[in-house]
Amino acid sequence: MSGSRNTVFVAQPGGKLNGNVRVPGDKSISHRSIMLGSLADGVTDVTGFLEGEDCLSTMRAFRAMGVEIEHHGEGMVRIHGVGLHGLKQPEGPLDLGNSGTSMRLMAGLCAGQNFEVTLTGDSSLNTRPMRRVTDPLKQMGAVITATEKGTPPLVISGGESLKAMTYTLPMASAQVKSCVLLAGMYADGKTCVTEPAPTRDHTERMLNGFGYAVERDGATACIKGGGSLTATTIDVPADISSATFFMIGASIAEGSNILLENVGINPTRDGVITILKLMGADITLENERDVCGEPVADIRVRSAQLKGIDIPEELVPLAIDEFPAIFVAAACAEGTTRLTGAEELRVKESDRIQVMADGLEALGIDVHPTPDGIIIQPGRFSGGKVDSHGDHRIAMSFSMAALRASGPITIEDCDNVNTSFPGFIKLASQSGLNISDK
Ligand code: S3P
Repeated sequence: MSGSRNTVFVAQPGGKLNGNVRVPGDKSISHRSIMLGSLADGVTDVTGFLEGEDCLSTMRAFRAMGVEIEHHGEGMVRIHGVGLHGLKQPEGPLDLGNSGTSMRLMAGLCAGQNFEVTLTGDSSLNTRPMRRVTDPLKQMGAVITATEKGTPPLVISGGESLKAMTYTLPMASAQVKSCVLLAGMYADGKTCVTEPAPTRDHTERMLNGFGYAVERDGATACIKGGGSLTATTIDVPADISSATFFMIGASIAEGSNILLENVGINPTRDGVITILKLMGADITLENERDVCGEPVADIRVRSAQLKGIDIPEELVPLAIDEFPAIFVAAACAEGTTRLTGAEELRVKESDRIQVMADGLEALGIDVHPTPDGIIIQPGRFSGGKVDSHGDHRIAMSFSMAALRASGPITIEDCDNVNTSFPGFIKLASQSGLNISDK
């Protein structure tokens, strides 16, 4: 699957988005539900689970470590937890496909086990930086190796007793924060992580939901080793990162009016709403509620004339996965949009600054990539061909660009859309985008 380049999307120009849309479950929460459910005492039931390749990689990995996980389809999963010390050594390396979240969070968990494990992935994941997790884990006493370049495979020896530590993250990364906190469950005292800017806090919320206390004091989250997790039920909300493509599509396509149902609006994830509103988008939240410790709402989006802005840097970590789509909105806005402080985009599933710049340019947009961001001038998308470089979010962002294009947009290398958004073509077509795959 990953690594092959066979799926091509073709999006026809024009159209608008209408109706009620329920996008698949949140990827970050789905991963964590498998991890914590597996390590809990008792049976955890999950609904709304994302049936995407990334979360299925996590599921396969925990099965390979001896956890019985029933997968009933349609987002229903039952996990028979084995307790914090009940995992078994897998027979071979754990292949985590395209999923950085699986690898970085599992590195922390595996450091606390008493067996050796190897974590590997596809050609994209195996080029992504892992020193950000191996460095703090080594400081805790883990024995862990990566390649000379600091990339996967990771070999984690296990069997070491971990020391609690106080760690300041060198970058705003929820994956690194989560890695250290999860290792902290196995350490001999109180582990504290301080983040330079707020990042998604699903790990902290879910640990608390499983009865494992995480204390928060400003920018610092602390966890004490030696506790236990108690099974619970989890209803995963729709993923705001997947909803983003529809928010952008509806904003830029005149005459659109959609309702995105049951979307997670955790304040550490809702930067895209703030940014789009700053750009003049017509977005309202309806039926705000709390579901299993996560804030959820239905999101109404109507088309609006957007304007270019200087994106406030403090919003970057709160919208980190949404920038490819935001760049498409920026090209449709009046005036220049400038992004700074977003160098992390260069080490995602692809170099999202360069790959988006190349694609936007191929569609006739005037862009200027910088080391930590991009400057985008407004323009009209021509039709044309873009290469997603196997990056799911880039493929879906350019699909939505067709709503404002003058000719068809062909997007190459789209297999990995299945990592986060199975059924994208069908749902987008039902909402009014004229798109097909081949
Ligand atoms: C994620 C954290 C983010 C995000 C990724 C999912 C998570 O990565 O980009 O898609 O679930 O913790 P970073 O922590 O590297 O910013």
